[in-house]
Amino acid sequence: MLPSRNLPSDVKTELNSIAKKLVANGKGILAADESVGNVGKHFSEIGVENTTENRRLYRQLLVTTAPDIAPYISGVILFEETLYQKTDNDVLFVNVLRDNGIIAGIKVDKGLSPLDGTENETTTLGLDDLDERCSKYKRDGADFAKWRCTLRISDKTPTRKALLENANVLARYADICQQNRIVPIVEPEVLTEGDHNLERSRTVAENVLNHVFAALSDFGVYLPGILLKTQMVLPGNTCPFKFTTEDIAAATTEALSSRVPAAVPGVVFLSGGQSEEDATVNLNSINALQSCHCKPTADHERCKCDNTPAFPWKLTFSFGRALQASVLRAWSGKKESVELAKGELLKRCRANSLATQGDYEPGSIPTFAGNVNLYTANHNY
Ligand code: 13P
Repeated sequence: MLPSRNLPSDVKTELNSIAKKLVANGKGILAADESVGNVGKHFSEIGVENTTENRRLYRQLLVTTAPDIAPYISGVILFEETLYQKTDNDVLFVNVLRDNGIIAGIKVDKGLSPLDGTENETTTLGLDDLDERCSKYKRDGADFAKWRCTLRISDKTPTRKALLENANVLARYADICQQNRIVPIVEPEVLTEGDHNLERSRTVAENVLNHVFAALSDFGVYLPGILLKTQMVLPGNTCPFKFTTEDIAAATTEALSSRVPAAVPGVVFLSGGQSEEDATVNLNSINALQSCHCKPTADHERCKCDNTPAFPWKLTFSFGRALQASVLRAWSGKKESVELAKGELLKRCRANSLATQGDYEPGSIPTFAGNVNLYTANHNY
């Protein structure tokens, strides 16, 4: 098997074109790939039983909003079960997405597992049969994939062992996906648990990215055919100090600038337990640093910028909780609330689309659970 960077040029072109479509201007990704157990936690908060049929009904709600959200959503990440589920009218969800120009993706990791000999650090399972699964998923309509590794910040962590292990696992996954013409979303998530400040978060983020890109290079991964999914650089959830959204945006772009090669088409952020509104506002502040926001005529006369983006990669969203919290609460398992819930999804998608352009006005698109803190300890996808 050739390393992915030596794949035939038509395969590379396909990978790069999928990756670029996923981060097209004003668009981002809806992460709806929660595992059965994780959906169960969300359902228990709204009093819905975690059955196959209720999961299908909820995912149907999300997927059939496709005609409305398509201007803002480039791709939806699905859980394996959902890839094969159909609407009430017997149409596969993947076909509903495709017919609306939205790319279907799939979570291919099999969840976190303790990393022996460490304090609470993890690796991620799923490499064993990944090649066969990817070849099947591609045939069944998935053009991109997601694999989540997590690292945690404490006095002793992340350890070198966890850094190396997770970077290698991500690189092997990425290579296998590309061999199967699937764009890998490479996700090394640094968790927000802890009382660390923004500076510590930034240095850990840089260290993690260093290891990940070294491994991607060693494993011959084709960088124009991946997307990086990462956390925004935030202070720990129990940090006693407050930081502004501008501080967060500066720390995030600083960490990325020094570590992410320009060949990567885009960085897609997870929301990581932030409220819907905070995630949108922070994404907006990050993108406000991407380019000058002068309007073509009068303003431009004043600033004289050349409007070149400050960073080589697109900066957009791939939110799970921060796109679905209001939808879940509005729906609450009731048939008569489906339209209301779809409206909440549309609002959040529109807000985040504006944020990818640095054009979101904080508070301008209120939603049911916009300000609810979505953090949970030991969040497992
Ligand atoms: P969030 O709920 O943190 O946005 O998670 C998105 C995701 O895909 C994590 O893997």
